[in-house]
Amino acid sequence: MKKNNKFHRLKTAGLAILCSTLSLAERTATDYFPDSQLTTTGVYYYPEHWDVSQWERDFKNMAELGFEFTHFAEFAWAQLEPQEGVYDFAWLDHAIELAAKHKLKIILCTSTATPPVWLTRKYPEILITQENGVKLDHGARQHASFSNPTYRALALKMIDALAKRYGKDKRIMGWQLDNEPGVQYDFGPQAEKAFRSYLTTVYPDIDSLNAAWGTPFWSQVYHSFEEITLPKLGMMFMNPHHILDYRRFASLQTANFLDEQSRCIKQYANKNQFVTTNLIPTYDEGHIGIYNDLDFHSYTRYMVFGDDKGIGRKGYRLGNPWRIAYANDFFRPLENQFGVMELQPGQVNWGNINSQPLPGAIRLWLWHVFAGGSDFTCAYRFRQPLSGMEQYHYGIVGTDGISVTPGGNEYKQFNQEIHALRSNVAAFDTKPTHYTKRKVGILWNHENAWNMSRQPQNTHWDTHEHIRKYYKALKRFGAPVDVIRENDSFENYPFMLVPAYQLVDDALIARWKAYAEQGGHLILTARTGHKDRHGRIFEGKFGYKLFDLIGAEMNFFDLLQAHTPDPIVMGGKQYDWFTWGENFTPYENTEVWATYAGDYYDGAPAILHRSLGKGTVTYVGVDSQDGEMEEAVLRKVYDRAQVAVEHLPDGLLIEYRNGLGIAVNYADQAIRVDVPGMKKIRIGVNPVPTAGVLVWDAR
Ligand code: GAL
Repeated sequence: MKKNNKFHRLKTAGLAILCSTLSLAERTATDYFPDSQLTTTGVYYYPEHWDVSQWERDFKNMAELGFEFTHFAEFAWAQLEPQEGVYDFAWLDHAIELAAKHKLKIILCTSTATPPVWLTRKYPEILITQENGVKLDHGARQHASFSNPTYRALALKMIDALAKRYGKDKRIMGWQLDNEPGVQYDFGPQAEKAFRSYLTTVYPDIDSLNAAWGTPFWSQVYHSFEEITLPKLGMMFMNPHHILDYRRFASLQTANFLDEQSRCIKQYANKNQFVTTNLIPTYDEGHIGIYNDLDFHSYTRYMVFGDDKGIGRKGYRLGNPWRIAYANDFFRPLENQFGVMELQPGQVNWGNINSQPLPGAIRLWLWHVFAGGSDFTCAYRFRQPLSGMEQYHYGIVGTDGISVTPGGNEYKQFNQEIHALRSNVAAFDTKPTHYTKRKVGILWNHENAWNMSRQPQNTHWDTHEHIRKYYKALKRFGAPVDVIRENDSFENYPFMLVPAYQLVDDALIARWKAYAEQGGHLILTARTGHKDRHGRIFEGKFGYKLFDLIGAEMNFFDLLQAHTPDPIVMGGKQYDWFTWGENFTPYENTEVWATYAGDYYDGAPAILHRSLGKGTVTYVGVDSQDGEMEEAVLRKVYDRAQVAVEHLPDGLLIEYRNGLGIAVNYADQAIRVDVPGMKKIRIGVNPVPTAGVLVWDAR
């Protein structure tokens, strides 16, 4: 049985305030991806771009490269519904038939990212209006507003026709909704109306809204919901509580539209057809993780696009090692199954500098998404387009439609390696105990990041960078990491990190306390617990809600100039900080792990630790400059808990699944893998070269 074959998950926005507006559904997931298959790969194809005489040749070539599915109709609304209410499925029927002839399954898409021109011209009100008043237009994609009822009704009508035709079709393995649906900031009149109506579902009356938004401040008091407009995000002093609610609303617009699409498909779909969508891992977009009616989440990932965060002088050819790692750890825990719907097959077109990936990079990424638990990977795309905005985007084959690109050959190699491993597969959760003992949950709620980015107090503060310091340390430890949400069970994690969790309520704090009392190792970091769910500071001593839990009172927090950081002293070692530092008076029995140096509060406690019931609470009130302090704190927590960790060099990442150990090397030099329980090497050589992969038996 694969993973948690049956699991019940109460999907909420993780927030009491939002619950009233969501339909809470308890779902039982179907296992769409059997263990015996390990993983499967597919590739995007747009039949409408190519001469019909080439389709079969292309499907045959795909199958010969080891792909097991393809992906159709992502942007084909104009071909599916050439005139309002007139559908043409003949071309799609033909493409499906030819693909199936070559044993390729199909993911079908709902095409909603590209409304046809007849729709836009007849119903121009569907177009998104930007904050500066500019209206988007036909000629690109993703220009229709999810807040517009006409667009939504027309989209659902088309999806209904599509699902009616293909829902029972066994060749269709699943559905992808829209394309990379994100949170839209539409400033049109329909969106404003929808925002007001959302607010009436959150607040029983205008007085409650005034209280939540603190409107007596600067004479902002409202007398009716009709007076409320969309917040001007560009206005420097715009009310932060208003913005918080607006972002909640905008996130729900996207989530609700996708849920609606999914419900429409499920009226017709076979149980074996899944519904998902392909999300950009922009972690603080609030729509991710709050759907009710999709089966699981999938993400898209590009690694070489001008970003220079790889390791070494040419590290940009392999990309940032933590990009795939974190996306895996963020998406997998949502439903315990996930896919990577787009993975770069070679050079792309849209980055600021579109370099060639290093030979071996694409296979490295494929193994990395597999190591992190993914159930499938789909290459973006099979053929390089000859016209349109993506002309320079590589495919699995080149501009002649037949020559396999270097990335195409790396997919082929990966496919062969996976198919060979299928002869003897262990269950997904077969993982060694030295690894599972280190398991850590990182508690995440995007609303904290929103609120802190609106009022950072120090423009150098970056919530994601703050978390990344801990995350990198955990990956160096070789620890399995799940990014979790408030609706998850904390008890499943021996260690739990709660980073910069600004917005809280008493119930959440009580759960943290219970977690530690029952034996968990809780690590809270700076900025946690300062405000309520509306973003208001609690009336009481600043930060007082956490005093009992952390065993100390906060005196104040301080911020330094970036060019003159100060040291924190911990275990005789110094670490620089400047972005955020909280200063405490500890209670009796609370240990001080680190103190400030170099300023008028020299010697004041910065990091605290205490036992609580059967567990421990560590509070890290300071954010270091380079992350070494965060690593030292975590190491001390693991040491105290007597859980052994690795010291992996940067760029080497190790994960386990299906009884296999998998190491991927993003570093600019070969690295020897030396971890407990390594049995027969199945793939690769040790030391592992740059861009190399090592797979071994670990059961
Ligand atoms: C993705 C997008 C695809 C395609 C791709 C090109 O972000 O979802 O439709 O545009 O980029 O790399």
